[in-house]
Amino acid sequence: MSGKNVVLGVSGGIAAYKACELLRRFTESGHSVRVVPTESALHFVGAATWSALSGQPVSTEVWESVHEVPHVRIGQQADLVVVAPATADMLAKAAHGLADDLLTNTLLTARCPVVFAPAMHTEMWEHPATQENVATLRRRGAVVIEPAVGRLTGVDTGKGRFPEPEAIFELCRRVLDRGPDVTATDLAGRHVVVSAGGTREPLDPVRFLGNISSGRQGYAIAAVAAARGAKVTLVAANTELPDPAGVDVVRVGTALELRQAVLTATATADAVVMAAAVADFRPATFATQKIKKVDGVEPPAVELVRNPDVLAEISAERQRPGQIVVGFAAETNDALVNGRAKLARKKCDLLVVNEVGEDRAFGSANNEAVVLGADGSETPVPYGPKAALADLLWDLVAARLA
Ligand code: CTP
Repeated sequence: MSGKNVVLGVSGGIAAYKACELLRRFTESGHSVRVVPTESALHFVGAATWSALSGQPVSTEVWESVHEVPHVRIGQQADLVVVAPATADMLAKAAHGLADDLLTNTLLTARCPVVFAPAMHTEMWEHPATQENVATLRRRGAVVIEPAVGRLTGVDTGKGRFPEPEAIFELCRRVLDRGPDVTATDLAGRHVVVSAGGTREPLDPVRFLGNISSGRQGYAIAAVAAARGAKVTLVAANTELPDPAGVDVVRVGTALELRQAVLTATATADAVVMAAAVADFRPATFATQKIKKVDGVEPPAVELVRNPDVLAEISAERQRPGQIVVGFAAETNDALVNGRAKLARKKCDLLVVNEVGEDRAFGSANNEAVVLGADGSETPVPYGPKAALADLLWDLVAARLA
C-alpha cells in the first residue's frame, strides 16, 4: 500500500498547522503528497512550508501551470483526497459542488475516496446548514470524521476540535488499504478482549523480571476493533502508550494480575486476543526489602516458579460458546513449525506467528507475520504497519464469528 498519490487539501482554519504533522506521517510512510491549500489556509501556514515538507509545488488557484491542467489532473491522479482541516465553508462548497479554487476543483474531479477532517467552533459544527452539508457529503460516499471534543481556539471548549493527526492518518491508511467503507462496523455488538504489553514479575521493591514488549501491536488490535464497532477491553501490562479512543483500558503489572483481568473480561467476550508477552516464570519469593550485595558473598540465586498459561487456560475452558481465541508467538527460528506445534499445544483458534527481527515485532511500528488457523489455514501478513495486521486479524476473527 506504499507509494500512493495523496492530495492533502487544507482549508482556512488554525488547525492547518497540525496538518503539517499529518503530511509528515504520509511522506514517512512512503506516499507522495500534493498539498492543495485554499487562499485563506495560507494565512495560517505559508506555501513555502507546504512545499518544503511535501517536496512538491503548491498552488491555491487554477491559473498556474495551466498547460498541465492542474484543476483536473490533480484530482484524477489521486488515490486519496483528505481535507484537513475542513472548515464549515469548505464543507459547504464541497456539498454544493462549487469550484472557485484549485482545491474545490480537485474535489469535483477526484474519483478516489475523499476524507474530510472538520475543525470549527461548536456553533458552526452544530448549525443545521453544516449538518446538512455533512449528511450530503456522507450520502455521496465521502468519509467525514466526527470532530473531537475539547479545547477550541481561544477560551471555548466543545465539539469541533480537529481530530488528532495520528487518528486521521490511521483512518486514511485504512481507507487506502480497504476503500471508503472503513466506517463499516462489522464488529458492532461484539465484545472483544485484547491483552498487550509485557508483564513484570517483582523481585524486590525496585526490581523485576520483565521483557521488551512495547504493547504497540496489542494497542493497534484494540484500536482497530474499536474502529470496527466492537466494545473493547484492553488489558495493558506496563505500557506507556496513550489509551486508544473508545477502548476500556485495564492496567495490570504481573502475569497473575493479567490472568485475573483477562479471565474477568473474557466471561462476556466473543473473542480474546492474547498479544501480551506474559512471563512464563516469576520469582518464587518477593523480598520486601531491597536485595543487597555483600562483598565476598556469592550473589543470591533466584528461584523461579511457573506462571499459569493464560492463553492455554482460556482456550481449554471457553467461557462462552463460539468464543474465538487468538494467540501470538514470537519465534527466532523455525517459526512455522514451532508455531504449528504451539497452536496445537495451546488449542487456540488462530496463532499469529512473528519472526523476531530488526524493525519488526518487538517495539517496532511494523510487523510481518503468518496467521495459522486451527483449521489448517495459513494467512501471510506482508510487512507493514501493525494496524494493517490488526485489520487482517479481525477479518479472520469476524469470519469465524459469523
Ligand atoms: N501466554 C500466556 N500465558 C503465559 C505465557 C504466554 O497467555 N504464561 C500467551 C501469550 O500472550 C501469547 C502466547 O501465549 O499469546 C505466546 O506463547 P509463548 O510464551 O511465546 O510460548 P511459550 O508457551 O512460552 O513457548 P516457548 O517458551 O516454548 O516459546
